[in-house]
Amino acid sequence: MGKRESRNLLYSDLAEYYDAIYNWKDYSSEVHFIKKLIASSKKSVGNELLDVGCGTGRHVALLADSFKCTGLDLSDEMLRIARRNVKGAKFVKGNMFGFELHKKFDVILCLFSAIAYAKTDEQLKGTLSSFSSHLRDGGMVIIQPWIQKSKWKKGHIAMETFDSGNVKIARASYSGGTPRLSTFRMEYIIAEKGKGIRHVVEEDAFPYFQRAKYERIMRKLGLRPRFVTNKLFGDRGLLVGIKDS
Ligand SMILES: C[S@@+](CC[C@H](N)C(=O)[O-])C[C@H]1O[C@@H](n2cnc3c(N)ncnc32)[C@H](O)[C@@H]1O
Repeated sequence: MGKRESRNLLYSDLAEYYDAIYNWKDYSSEVHFIKKLIASSKKSVGNELLDVGCGTGRHVALLADSFKCTGLDLSDEMLRIARRNVKGAKFVKGNMFGFELHKKFDVILCLFSAIAYAKTDEQLKGTLSSFSSHLRDGGMVIIQPWIQKSKWKKGHIAMETFDSGNVKIARASYSGGTPRLSTFRMEYIIAEKGKGIRHVVEEDAFPYFQRAKYERIMRKLGLRPRFVTNKLFGDRGLLVGIKDS
């Protein structure tokens, strides 16, 4: 039986393989869409951008030609890779539930549902409040929220693999659910040359926060919400919030 870990394995021990495991993700088209969204909605004149839960910096790498970028993440391992991947951007360690960078931005991003790690009302409010307090008037947030309950595919299975000469990883996942929580279980088999093979099980659960809840909190914080859909962002879509002056 595999061992259970409290830290998210993919953002710690396996951070080195994060980009390979998500090699199907089209960061380039996502950034193309996001740049157009910013051009059509942002009212502030600056070009300072903060990516919260930036991971390995894949979005930042593609935005750095147009924006002065900062990435924020909780994981040292993800930040180490982001710094290696992207030159010309700043990466800082921080917790989205409540951070203070002592500066304001024109654009704040929180993509690939990193905001799902805000699992309680208090954490969600803290996160959105930190976004609002770091935005210039006329600036905007673009958040990819967690999957809505009506779209959650209970019973869904998935498989991702990574294959190199020295390391081979297979990850099988199962999506479960309770009336209040989307749950998932991921089992990794990791074979490393000369070291052996290990089996690691990870389980997590995210509450289904209705989009209306995000929008209510955003309005209270002075962020005018709008939901944008595009096939690139699937059922999750994007929640845009404009900070009215
Ligand atoms: C699904 S990954 C998304 C990474 C990146 N945005 C992307 O699109 O590839 C979620 C990221 O959120 C980070 N994260 C999780 N909880 C966090 C928190 N409380 N504060 C800041 N970052 C957090 C993780 O370390 C991880 O890098």
